[in-house]
Amino acid sequence: MAKLGVLTSGGDAPGMNAAVRAVVRQAAATGSEVLGIEHGFAGLLAGGFRPLPLGAVGGILHRGGTVLFTARCEEFKERPAQERAAACLREAGIEGLVVIGGDGSFRGAQALHELGLPVVGIPATIDDDIPFTEHSIGFDTAVNTAVWAIDRIRDTATSHERIFVIEVMGRDSGHLALAVGLAAGAESVVVPEFPEPIEDVCARVVRGRNRGKKHDLIVVAEGAGSAYHVAREVQARTGMETRVTVLGHIQRGGSPTAYDRALASRLGAAAVVGLQQGMSGVMAGMEGGEVRFTPFPQVLAGRRTLDRRLWELTHLLAI
Ligand code: ADP
Ligand code: F6P
Repeated sequence: MAKLGVLTSGGDAPGMNAAVRAVVRQAAATGSEVLGIEHGFAGLLAGGFRPLPLGAVGGILHRGGTVLFTARCEEFKERPAQERAAACLREAGIEGLVVIGGDGSFRGAQALHELGLPVVGIPATIDDDIPFTEHSIGFDTAVNTAVWAIDRIRDTATSHERIFVIEVMGRDSGHLALAVGLAAGAESVVVPEFPEPIEDVCARVVRGRNRGKKHDLIVVAEGAGSAYHVAREVQARTGMETRVTVLGHIQRGGSPTAYDRALASRLGAAAVVGLQQGMSGVMAGMEGGEVRFTPFPQVLAGRRTLDRRLWELTHLLAI
C-alpha cells in the first residue's frame, strides 16, 4: 500500500500520539506515505487530510491529547455519510486506514470496511471497556493520574478525619474505578457491575472508624451514579463530614505512562503491518504480551468483564 490514512476518534486518550507516531514510522519503513485525517470521522467528511512526513510525528511520543484532534460525529452513524467518507478516502488515494479510538469508533471503522475500504482499529480509551486486549491505550495513564490525585485527597481527608467521595470516569463501566480504587487503597469502590446497598458502604466506614481509621475514600464510577448522591446518603447515615471531588477530564490529559507509550507503539506498528498483509475489519489488541487481531464484530459483541475478586480484595485490604 503506497498511501495510508490515520485518524483518532471519540474521547482522547494519552498515548494516541504515540500510536500515530508508530503508524507513520512503521509505514515509512516500508516506503508507504501516511495522511493524517484531522477531527476523526468528521474530518473524513470534510476532507481534512494532511501529509504526515517523518518529521511531523517527532516530539509527540510523550504528549497527551492527539495532534490529529478528535471529534464525535453523529452524522457518520448513517450510511450516506459513510459512503461519502469512503469516496473521499479513495479520491485521496488512501488504500488503508488506521482508526484509533473506542468501540464507537470501531463501529464506524467496520462500516468503512463493509464498504470495501481496508481498515484496522487500535483500542484507545481511558474507559478500558474493550475486550480482546489486555488494556486500551490511555487507561494506565488515567489510572496513575487519578491515583496521584487521590493520594493528595487522602492527606486532607486524614487531617480533617473526613469521608471523601471521589468520582472517576469510565462511562458505563467500572474498570477505571476499580483499578484506581485498588491502587489508591479506597475503602469502597462503587461500580455499576456490582451494585450494593449503600448500607454496606456505610458499614465499612463505621468498621474502619471503630478500629481507628482517620479517613474514608469512596471511589465512585460515573456509570454507577453521582458522587454527590452517594455523599449525601453516606453523610446522612453516618453523620460524618463528607466531601466530594469529581476528577473529571483531568483523567484524560497528561503525558502517557511508559506502559501506554509501549502499548501504543506496538499496536500502531502492528496495525500498519496488518494492513499491508491484507487484513481489514479487525482490531489490533495486546493479549498475553502478543499482538492479536480480532474482527470488529467479535470485539463489538464481546464484553470486558470486571473481576469481582479484585473488587472484594480492594475492600478486604482497605479495612
Ligand atoms: P469511542 O470511540 O471512544 O467509543 P464514541 O462512542 O463517541 O467514542 O464514538 C466515536 C465516533 O464513532 C462517533 O462520534 C461516530 O462518529 C462514530 N460512531 C459511533 N457509533 C457508530 C455507529 N454505530 N456507526 C458508525 N459510526 C459510529
Ligand atoms: O470515553 C471516555 C470518556 O472520558 C468517558 O469516561 C466519559 O464518560 C466521556 O468520555 C466524557 O466525554 P466528554 O469529553 O464528551 O465530556
